Amino acid sequence: MLGLKLPTDPRWVNIVEKNIEEILTDHAFCEQKATSTAISLIVSFPEYTELVQEMVALVKEEISHFKMVHDKILERGWTLGRDRKDEYVIQLMKFFPKGGSRTTQLVHRLLYAALIEARSCERFRLLSEELEDKELATFYRNLMVSEANHYTMFLGFARQYGEKKEVDAKWQQLLEYEAKIMSDLGKKETVHG
Ligand SMILES: [Fe+2]
Ligand SMILES: [Fe+2]
Repeated sequence: MLGLKLPTDPRWVNIVEKNIEEILTDHAFCEQKATSTAISLIVSFPEYTELVQEMVALVKEEISHFKMVHDKILERGWTLGRDRKDEYVIQLMKFFPKGGSRTTQLVHRLLYAALIEARSCERFRLLSEELEDKELATFYRNLMVSEANHYTMFLGFARQYGEKKEVDAKWQQLLEYEAKIMSDLGKKETVHG
């Protein structure tokens, strides 16, 4: 359903389980970055009215996810730590060349966003199915559904604003590239690590 070419090795959950504080901290900042991305799309592409409207809704939803994760951190007696570098996203951003028309830039940003939502959704699904901590498993099941909707929305906007055939070809190339990045990951207690 998500189109991803390489599933995460389920053993990644065993690594996560040993350090819940770390995954929650990283996850909180993933939600903050999702919020920031939505704001940045509004700033960069204000003339795309439908996108702006959806991004306003997304900002509210992603910041509410941030609060949900932050509350989980507090519930467990911890304090939110500093942001972690997301190697996965850094690698991903190297795929599309810089420049091109405004529409091309928009399409690339929408495809990156769709992919990050898709991979996050896949990771959350794994957590919801494999975590021994049932309370946290339920928490991840609910978030998984939201991220799946975000994936569909971003991909839909890319197809709407770009040339559909070209967008679909780029999406396939990006998925292939992402699978290569992913083959070296799944070893850290972070959402995309
Ligand atoms: Fe989210
Ligand atoms: Fe999201």
